[in-house]
Amino acid sequence: MEKNVFIQTWGCQMNVADSERMQALLSRDNYQPATDAESADIIILNTCHIRDHARHKVVSRLGELRRLKERKPDLVLAVAGCVAQAEAKQLRKQVPFVDLIFGPDQIEKVPELVQQTLERRFGDEGQAHDTYGKHLDPLIHTRFTDDEYSIPLDRASPLAAAPGQSVSRFVNIIKGCNNYCTFCVVPYTRGREKSRPEREILDEVSFYRDSGTREVVLLGQNVNSYGLDRPDAKGLPFADLLYQVAAVEGIERIRFMTSNPHDFTPALAQAFADLPKLASAFHLPVQSGSDRVLKRMNRQYTRAQYLDRVQMIRQARPDVAFSSDMIVGFPGETDEDFEDTLSLVREMRYAFVYAYKYSKRAGTPAARFKEMLPEEVLDERLQRLLALQDQITTDQNRNEIGRQREVLVLYKDSKKEDSWYGRTFEGRLVRVHSDRGLVGQIVPVEIFDANKTACLAKPVF
Ligand code: SAH
Ligand code: F3S
Repeated sequence: MEKNVFIQTWGCQMNVADSERMQALLSRDNYQPATDAESADIIILNTCHIRDHARHKVVSRLGELRRLKERKPDLVLAVAGCVAQAEAKQLRKQVPFVDLIFGPDQIEKVPELVQQTLERRFGDEGQAHDTYGKHLDPLIHTRFTDDEYSIPLDRASPLAAAPGQSVSRFVNIIKGCNNYCTFCVVPYTRGREKSRPEREILDEVSFYRDSGTREVVLLGQNVNSYGLDRPDAKGLPFADLLYQVAAVEGIERIRFMTSNPHDFTPALAQAFADLPKLASAFHLPVQSGSDRVLKRMNRQYTRAQYLDRVQMIRQARPDVAFSSDMIVGFPGETDEDFEDTLSLVREMRYAFVYAYKYSKRAGTPAARFKEMLPEEVLDERLQRLLALQDQITTDQNRNEIGRQREVLVLYKDSKKEDSWYGRTFEGRLVRVHSDRGLVGQIVPVEIFDANKTACLAKPVF
């Protein structure tokens, strides 16, 4: 009998990839994607713990789903991802109507976990247990596994091979993080760094290529450390992996994210010089422009070292568009520290910046720092930073007017018949006007207008 699963995802690209993987694994057991939560037999909330705001959204969504669960007691309601990992015990108390709580390291086991949940209710014969209808505490699975990091390619899955829809695909290469920035929960929720074997990565890239993929985005919390955890297996360093991926014929563009500047190697700069397929876009989060704050964040580089690394990349490839993550209002951040952040943003002229107000996370070293700043200061600093970056992004987009670029067209505009969205080699979003279908093509265009979010262009055939 066909059953449905609804997976709702918050947070980073890693979570998006994990959700796709869960869907693929469950579809082997005949669970098809549900169009909404109401019609699903299983609901999985794949959650994010990075800032308190993200966590709140999950708790309020669970409040709504409680009513659905009361109406449909057979529904399996699961909380997955980083909130599950970090707060399993609190969740058990706070939302006891949930059936299953499991962390990011258990993704591969999702079919078993669902099966276990059903067996608790019904037994493996499908007979209702005498516990049926009674309250059962949620099942909790949050242990980190010792297994090798493997995501076997599921050639049969409709999601693995979706021709035409998947011009650009994420490919996981490493999970976890060993950096312990003092504000960040990732090392605790996703565990130590573990690299996927290169054979598996290259197989996946070739398989996607065969189903129409033109661009791959190599994914990890900290891609620069790829291979460093596998010395025994002669782990391939990240730069070498880039050369191997570039050798896969038919893949036209390679991007990657995210990398901590501290793990930067000159070999990576060399890869930008050597590999024409490596896109001219580099997301290199700096977090702050002040050395004092960088030190308290345990980022392990100074502003000058960051700029040196940027310089090395620019020497290898002058037109790289840099982007960054920034945190404002880190405990003890003075006006002067914040001015240093603004001046770095002016100096870097980033293509875009993801800026966040500092959010205190229990269990991280920074949570014990005393000098928390008032919310108004955080708000004001965030607004100033965003206004500055908006101006820079708009200027940079407008600077594109009159230029010819090659746009990899990713999807059709959902509102307009003759508009298509894609990205330039530098990663800038472009809306292309054309009567012809363009998805999957690399189209030479001329940019004729631009605003804060996108450039507008016509094909030049
Ligand atoms: N690996 C990446 C970061 C991944 S987390 C790196 O090296 O920088 C994504 C972003 O969330 C971070 O770059 C940071 O800007 C933001 N972030 C993490 N913890 C945060 C916190 N406690 N408060 C506010 N922003 C945070
Ligand atoms: Fe977080 Fe720092 Fe790692 S921001 S993901 S601990 S590099």
